[in-house]
Amino acid sequence: MKWLISGGRIVDPASGRDEVADLLLEDGLIKRTGQGVKAARGVKTVDASGLLVVPGLIDMHCHLREPGFEYKETVASGCAAAVKGGITSVMCMANTDPVNDCASVTAYILAKASQAGLARVFPIGAITKGMQGESLAEMGELAHSGCVAVSDDGRPVRSGGIMRRAIEYSAAFGLLVIDHAEDLSIAGEGVMHEGFVSTMLGLEGIPTAAALSQIARNIALVREFGGRIHIAHVSSRSGADLIRNAKAEGLSVTAETCPHFFTLDHEAVRGFDTNAKVNPPLSTADDVEGIIESLADGTIDVIATDHAPHHRDEKDREFDLAAFGISGFETALALTLGLVHKGRLPLMEAIAKWTVNPAKIVGLPGGTLAEGAHADVTLLDAEAQWTVDPTLFLSKGKNTPFAGTKLKGEVANTFVGGRMVYDRNEGIIVKQE
Ligand code: DOR
Repeated sequence: MKWLISGGRIVDPASGRDEVADLLLEDGLIKRTGQGVKAARGVKTVDASGLLVVPGLIDMHCHLREPGFEYKETVASGCAAAVKGGITSVMCMANTDPVNDCASVTAYILAKASQAGLARVFPIGAITKGMQGESLAEMGELAHSGCVAVSDDGRPVRSGGIMRRAIEYSAAFGLLVIDHAEDLSIAGEGVMHEGFVSTMLGLEGIPTAAALSQIARNIALVREFGGRIHIAHVSSRSGADLIRNAKAEGLSVTAETCPHFFTLDHEAVRGFDTNAKVNPPLSTADDVEGIIESLADGTIDVIATDHAPHHRDEKDREFDLAAFGISGFETALALTLGLVHKGRLPLMEAIAKWTVNPAKIVGLPGGTLAEGAHADVTLLDAEAQWTVDPTLFLSKGKNTPFAGTKLKGEVANTFVGGRMVYDRNEGIIVKQE
């Protein structure tokens, strides 16, 4: 199928292009772009006037839960939710069961992704075998089987010595090391940010220092032994400050944050809302401000969802016992546009953090609308208003603290490899064999 996306506002941070133009998709690639591109016979046209046309979003941090936790999410349900959210490539974390620490698990995930035929899936392998933190997983095997990065996300690598070796070995295979930076000896049994609200609620807190000490350790390793590291889900002003200083030193340290960290603070937990329970935890209003400033000044390179779907039974319980995580695919883009609408982040920058930046950091294809690139494209209606209703999520995980929130910015269409996979009126468009 050939598509002409006509008359939309093309915003392509890879080239700095921002203009009304057309885009011709053919054979899975962006064939031509420019003004006045005509639809030849057999080319279907989408009228994109009034819409933003951006590269398909790349989410470098999510949980698809398969194998092992299919009751929370499957690769297929996760990919459907992703493309509804305008996300065309997802990198899925290794905390499945079994853990993705070997070729067979990676191959299984890739086979499920290909069956689903929606978003592109790039698995992240574990840093350590079984994510036990004791010995390194076979990084060569993971790279050869299709992993693009390694991480023990959800279970931080405690040993600095093992992290040093992970940074050294992964480089030989072109794998990015992503660290869930949290010192568990400081975090203890905490369930939310340690501060005024945790004291009021009588809940055990996680001090900011838990993340800081591990970010600082990672930076020290890169400074002394070289290599590079990517810090997952930065949630505090002081965490971002460490990364800003490391970048100023010229170290290869990159970082991401998630929409909930620039939108909500720990007050969201006040009603014991387990949907606001996430790790790292929602922090103070000043931290939210610090994260927004760090997105704007380039300290934080990437926005990623940390999409963490859970079953209702795992959230509908005492706060202490509830699972950590937010189902993020279907609200991420509108929350990001929230920063743009408020004038806190230029549109071009916001899109860069979802496209060209993760593509460059990880070395993935895509992230651009240049001729010859993969035809992964998202059409956005930036002004459309909607109210978050988790019962309408395609993700199995309905766990969102944004239920009932009015958002501005809706995905109109998503194309992956030149095929329309989502339309806001028709829903998911399944591949015709
Ligand atoms: O909130 C979180 N949920 N943080 C993590 O690091 C892991 C994730 C999960 O797997 O549910």
